[in-house]
Amino acid sequence: MGVFASTDDPSSSGHEQVVFCQDKQSGLKAIIGIYSTALGPALGGTRFYPYASEADALADVLDLSRGMAYKNALANLDLGGGKAVIWGDPEQLKSEALLRAYGRFVESLNGRYYTACDVGTYVADMDVIARETRYVTGRSVEHGGAGDSSILTAWGVFQGMRAAAEHVWGSPTLAGRRVGVAGLGKVGKYLTAHLLDDGAEVVATDVNPRAQEWVRATHPQVTLVDDTAALVASDIDVYAPCALGGALNDDTVPVLRAKVVSGAANNQLAHPGIEKVLADRGILYTPDYVVNAGGVIQVADEIEGFNFERAKLRATRIFDTTRQILRLADDEGVPPAVAADRLAERRMAEVGRLRAIHLR
Ligand SMILES: NC(=O)c1ccc[n+]([C@@H]2O[C@H](COP(=O)([O-])OP(=O)(O)OC[C@H]3O[C@@H](n4cnc5c(N)ncnc54)[C@H](O)[C@@H]3O)[C@@H](O)[C@H]2O)c1
Repeated sequence: MGVFASTDDPSSSGHEQVVFCQDKQSGLKAIIGIYSTALGPALGGTRFYPYASEADALADVLDLSRGMAYKNALANLDLGGGKAVIWGDPEQLKSEALLRAYGRFVESLNGRYYTACDVGTYVADMDVIARETRYVTGRSVEHGGAGDSSILTAWGVFQGMRAAAEHVWGSPTLAGRRVGVAGLGKVGKYLTAHLLDDGAEVVATDVNPRAQEWVRATHPQVTLVDDTAALVASDIDVYAPCALGGALNDDTVPVLRAKVVSGAANNQLAHPGIEKVLADRGILYTPDYVVNAGGVIQVADEIEGFNFERAKLRATRIFDTTRQILRLADDEGVPPAVAADRLAERRMAEVGRLRAIHLR
């Protein structure tokens, strides 16, 4: 989601619940946003960020929690959408007391909201939060957690990309295609390995010299280019944004030579309407929140007691979901981003409605 962002007024944005939490002594100021529990408890990470104002923090949590409802619905999880923000500079504020105070507020919601990592929070923080609440995922392996979620994020992106390849070229493989990977971080590295295994040619870029060294040493067959502008303008079949948000914007989309865009980065569409420009140029875009759901699938599995093979199987189904969205987009004559939203809303309505059947 993101580009079809909601409003910063919870009373008109459709959220079920927005909770403000404060613990003055530790400096905790947090907002937990629950957009929907139609499919189950709301799951979404905690962002720890120095927002300029409380209004900015609120606007972010409302957008992010709504996005999680759509992401979890399309990931076929029995989970609703929520997210939390802690307002402040994690470098200065983060402490055991603050995290545990936050954990107690999460616990007070009695399982309506499960938290996880996001920008500014890490696996080690989830382990601390877990000392106060059962409703936390993204913990370390030693604490029964799923560990590094980028493993299944990359696997899911690869599956979404395979579905796009089938849609455009008739076969679910990247063999013989040139794929441009922008960002060789945690996800980009695993994705590069899957692409090479599948027989793709990889062109890549990263601003970090360490990432460049890693690819030279590990996969010398990968062609490195100077920057994203060079990557986008090069002769690639698929563009995989795996760095920051806003990769699809008024500078990149008009010059993009790829026929498919499929990558891990969140919020790739820089502004509303850009998905239409992509469609008009005949570029197939697999919505970011559909193909990058492998991470949330991985951490959500902790709720059942983490099992990597089960989680991987679920992430593999991102192939089927992407295929379904691309077909729906064709049938309804809308961009895939719109088709994905429609499918998510349909599942939330159809499955959420079943709770009205009285059981006892
Ligand atoms: N890790 C996950 O499980 C997960 C899940 C869902 C979505 N995502 C999204 O996927 C993206 C990548 O996540 P990650 O965990 O690999 O992050 P990361 O921080 O490990 O990697 C990002 C990489 O992008 C590089 N980069 C930054 N700016 C760049 C630029 N202008 N040009 C080229 N490279 C640049 C960085 O040097 C870094 O190597 C992010 O947008 C993240 O929000 C990640």
